[in-house]
Amino acid sequence: MPRYQRPIGTRDIMPEDQPYWYYVRDRARHLAELAGFERIDVPIFEATELFARGVGEGTDIVDKEMYSFTDRGGRQLTLRPEFTAGVVRAYIENGMRVRLQPVKLYTFGPTFRYDRPQRGRYRQFTQFNVEILGEQDPAADLEVMLLAWDLYASLGFRDLAFQLNSTGCPQCKPGYVAVLKEYYAGHEDEICQDCRRRLERSPLRVLDCKAKQCQPIIAGAPHILDHLCTGCAEHFATLREYLDLLDRSYTINHRLVRGLDYYTKTVFEVWAAGIGAQSAVCGGGRYDGLAELLGGPPTPGVGFGSGLERIIMVMKELNVEVPPLPKPSVFLAHLGPEAKREALRLVNALRQADVGAYLAFGERGLKNQLREAGKRGVRYAVILGEDELAAGTATVRDMEAGEQTSVELAWLVEWLKARV
Ligand code: HAM
Repeated sequence: MPRYQRPIGTRDIMPEDQPYWYYVRDRARHLAELAGFERIDVPIFEATELFARGVGEGTDIVDKEMYSFTDRGGRQLTLRPEFTAGVVRAYIENGMRVRLQPVKLYTFGPTFRYDRPQRGRYRQFTQFNVEILGEQDPAADLEVMLLAWDLYASLGFRDLAFQLNSTGCPQCKPGYVAVLKEYYAGHEDEICQDCRRRLERSPLRVLDCKAKQCQPIIAGAPHILDHLCTGCAEHFATLREYLDLLDRSYTINHRLVRGLDYYTKTVFEVWAAGIGAQSAVCGGGRYDGLAELLGGPPTPGVGFGSGLERIIMVMKELNVEVPPLPKPSVFLAHLGPEAKREALRLVNALRQADVGAYLAFGERGLKNQLREAGKRGVRYAVILGEDELAAGTATVRDMEAGEQTSVELAWLVEWLKARV
C-alpha cells in the first residue's frame, strides 16, 4: 500500500486516457462555438453564500456536499459544486447585461461535491457547462438541448432520449406544492423518513425519492404539468413542438425535479446506459429567477452541465474509438561522447523544426537504445556513431520497413521533416 493515496472520490487521469479527454473537449468546444457560445472561466472557489443562495439551502448539494472552508482572512469559501451560480455571478459582476443579448457562454472545469463515490460518481469531477443568459424564448431551451444531443450523437452515443419536465414558476409552483403536500398528507405513515423531511424543506424532491416504500405513492402523485400557469404551459408546449419539429425524442418524466432550487419552467436530463441506474450524463434547465436572487437585474437563463467522466465512461462502454495523441516519430541513438553532443544538437533542431523526437538518455549500447526506440513506437531511429560522425552522416533506420539509409547530417532535419 503506497504511503500516500489520492483522496476518496478523486481520480488520476492517466496518459492513456487523455485522448478521450482531448477528443470530448474538442467536440464540445467545436459544437458550442458553431452555435455562437463563447468561453468563460470562473474561479474554482467562490463565496459560500453564492451557492447557498443560488443552488439553495435545503438541497443535498448545499446541505451535505459542499467543500467549504474559511480562508486565512476569515472568508467563507466553497469549491464550486456546479457552474451556473458562478457564471451568473460573473454575468452580473462584469456588467454583461450591456452586451448584445442573449449572452451565450460555455465553460469546462473541475467541480466538487462530497458525494458518495461509486461508478460515475466522484468528489472531484469535470463539467462541460453551457448557459444562455438574457433570453426567454423556448428556442433557447431547444438550443441548449440540441447542443447536448449533438455532442453525444457525435461521440457515438446511440438511442438518445431526453427526460423532460417543467417545474413551473413562482406563480404556479406554490399552487402545485400545496396540492402535492395535501396528497402526501394522506400517505404520511407510508413514506420514508427522508421524504417527511423533504416535504418541509424542498417538497418537489419527494418525487425523486428512490426508497421502495415511496414508489407507489410517487406513482399516484399529482403531476406538475397539470398545474402550470398559462405562461409556463405555453412555454412547455412550444418547446415540445420544436423538439418534435427537429425529430428529437423525449420522455415526459413527471418525477424529474432536479436537485438544484433555481430551476423554473424547463428541466431536462439525458440518461445513458452504462453509468449506473438512472444516472444522468447531462442535466439542465431554465432558471429565470436566479440573476435577481443573486442581486442582479432580472435575466432569464437556460443551460446544462454534463460530466466528462460520465461521457467518457459511456464512450468506453460503446467501444468508441478516438484518435491517438501525437507522439514523436524519431528516436536519436548515439555511441560515444561526441556523437551524444551531435545528438543533443540534432534533437533540438528537430523539435524546432516541429518534428517530434526522443533522445536516448545516458550512455548505453546500441542494442539497448534501439530496443527503447522500438518500444516507443517511432518510425525512424537515427544512429550516430563514430564512423557516421567522421563521414558527416547519420544512419537512419526505418523501424517499419527494417531498412537503413545513410543521410548527410546537414540534410537530416529536412529529410526527416519530409517523411514524418
Ligand atoms: P447537475 O445535474 O447537478 O446540474 O450536474 C450536471 C452533470 O454533472 C450531471 O448530469 C453529471 O453528468 C455530472 N455530475 C454531477 N455530479 C457528479 C458526480 N458526483 N460525479 C460525476 N459527475 C457528476 C448542474 O450542475 C447544473 N449546474 C446544470 C445546469 C447548467 N443547469 C442549468 N445550467
